[in-house]
Amino acid sequence: MDIKLMTRDVTGFRGDALVVGVTQVLQELQGTAGTLDGPAATLDHVLGGLIRQLQRSGEFTGKAGETSLIHTLGKLETPRLLLVGLGPRDQMNTNRVRRGAAIACRSLGHADIAQVGLALFWPELGLDAAATVQAMVEGALFGLYQFNRYKSVDNEKGTHRINTLTLFVGPDGDTEALQSAIERGRIMAEATNFARDLANEPPNVLTPTELANRARAMAQAYGLECEILDRAQMEERGMGALLGVARGSAQPPKFIILRYRGGDPRQPGMALVGKGITFDTGGISIKPADRMEEMKFDMCGAAAVIGAMMAIAQLKPPINVTALAPATENMPGGNAYHPGDILRTANGKTIEIVNTDAEGRLILSDALSLARKEGLAPIIDVATLTGACVVALGKVHTGVFSNDQSLIDEIIAAGSEEGEKFWPMPMDEEYDELIKSEVADVKQTGGRYAGAITAAKVLSHFAQGAPWAHLDIAGTAYDEKKPYQAPGATGVAVRTLARLAERLAR
Ligand code: BES
Ligand code: MN
Ligand code: ZN
Repeated sequence: MDIKLMTRDVTGFRGDALVVGVTQVLQELQGTAGTLDGPAATLDHVLGGLIRQLQRSGEFTGKAGETSLIHTLGKLETPRLLLVGLGPRDQMNTNRVRRGAAIACRSLGHADIAQVGLALFWPELGLDAAATVQAMVEGALFGLYQFNRYKSVDNEKGTHRINTLTLFVGPDGDTEALQSAIERGRIMAEATNFARDLANEPPNVLTPTELANRARAMAQAYGLECEILDRAQMEERGMGALLGVARGSAQPPKFIILRYRGGDPRQPGMALVGKGITFDTGGISIKPADRMEEMKFDMCGAAAVIGAMMAIAQLKPPINVTALAPATENMPGGNAYHPGDILRTANGKTIEIVNTDAEGRLILSDALSLARKEGLAPIIDVATLTGACVVALGKVHTGVFSNDQSLIDEIIAAGSEEGEKFWPMPMDEEYDELIKSEVADVKQTGGRYAGAITAAKVLSHFAQGAPWAHLDIAGTAYDEKKPYQAPGATGVAVRTLARLAERLAR
C-alpha cells in the first residue's frame, strides 16, 4: 500500500474515490439549512449545496458510521465522493476517525477502485494530527483486511484493488512527525492483521506446530530471537500443567518464546504471555457442539503477543521484552487428563483439576512460572480465558485483573491511546476462598460465581510477587461481521501491548 500526505485542498483530488468526514448535524438544526465545516463545506460549495441537501432530507446526518456514496458526474475531478459520518463534533476523537477510515475503505473495497483519498480530520476539530494520521492509516488497513485464502473463485474472494491512500492533512501537514505517524500506523496495523491471520486460520491448519513455525518465520523476518520448546524440553522444565492439557491431543504441544532486546542487557525486562489453545473442545468435560467452531479462536492471546512482538521489533522501544506462548490443543483423547487429576506445575505448586475445559489457566500457570524464573517483570498475560468475562463485559471491554494498580493504569492509558478498551475488575482477597482445595495447593475452578475473577485468582498464584496483569479477551478477541470489520479475529491487544512496551521503556 502506497500511503502519502497531501497538503493541497481536496477539490483537486483525481483518484478513484474521495472519502470525506462529516460531523453530525445537531438535533435542533436538523431540517434547517444544515451545518458543515472542514473539507465537506468546500465540497458542498463546489457541488452546489448537495451535501446540505442530504442533511436537510435526513438521508445523511453525519451520525458515526453512516455513509453516503455520491457519483460526482464531472463536477469534481474524482468520480466518487464517499461521505462518512464522524458523529457529534464535540465528541470527536481519533477513534472515530479510525472507525470512519475503516468503514470507508471496507465499503469501497469491493469495487474497482485503486486510489482513495481520505479527508477525515481538519485543524478546527482540534485533534492531535500525528495520532489522527496514525489512526487513519490503521483504520484503512483494518477495514481492508480480509481472510479469503480458502476461497478459490476469484470473484468470490472480493479482493480489493486499493493500492494508494492519499491523506489530506491541511496546508502545513507535510512534516516528519506525520510521516512517522504513517509508519507507526502501518506497523501497528500490519502486526494486528498478522495476529488476525493466525487466529482466523482453521484449526486443522493452525496446529501448535504451525503456530510455532509462523512465529519463528516472523521472528526471523523482523530480527527477534526465537526458541521453541518441544515436549521433552517441557518435561525438563516440569511443565506438568501444560503437558497435562496436551495429553488428550495427537498434536504435539509447543512452547513459543520470542525475545526482543532493546534495553539494558542486565535487565530481564517485561513478559508478554499468551494463551495458545489452537482448538478447545473442552477435553473430557466436553463442550456442547453449538458454536464449538469458535474455539479455533482460543489462541488469540498467543496471536496477540506474537503480533505485539512484530510491532515492537519495528518500533524499537528501549526495553527488553519476552513473549511466552504455550500452545496445545485441548482434546478428549484416550490419554486425556481427567477431572480429579492433580497436576504439578513448573513452580512446584499443584492444581486439583475439576473441569478439563478450564485448560487456559493451566497452560498459563506454567508460562507464568517460567516468566518468574527468568525474573521478568512486569508480566502481562492475554487469554480468551472465560465465558464469564464475556457475560460481564460483552464484546466491548477487555477485562483487566491485576495485583498492581499502576500497571492497571498503564494498560488502560496505553489502550486509550490506541483506541482499545480495558476495564479493571476486582481482585479482593475474599475471592481466594473459592479456589481453596482439600487435596492440592489450589483448586482449578471456583464454581459458578465470579468465574472470570476466580480464573484470574488461579493465575495470580503463579505470578507470585511480581507485578502482573491478566487481560481476559474472551469477549473482544473475535466478532461477527461489522461495517468497519471483517468477521473473525479482531487482533485485540496487539496495539495496546506494543504501546505499553513503549510507555514502560520511558
Ligand atoms: N476458551 C474458553 C473460554 C471462552 C469462552 C472463550 C467463550 C471465548 C468464548 C475456556 O477455556 C473455557 O472453556 N472456560 C470455561 C471455564 C469453566 C469450565 C470454569 C468457561 O468459561 O466456561
Ligand atoms: Mn476451555
Ligand atoms: Zn479455552
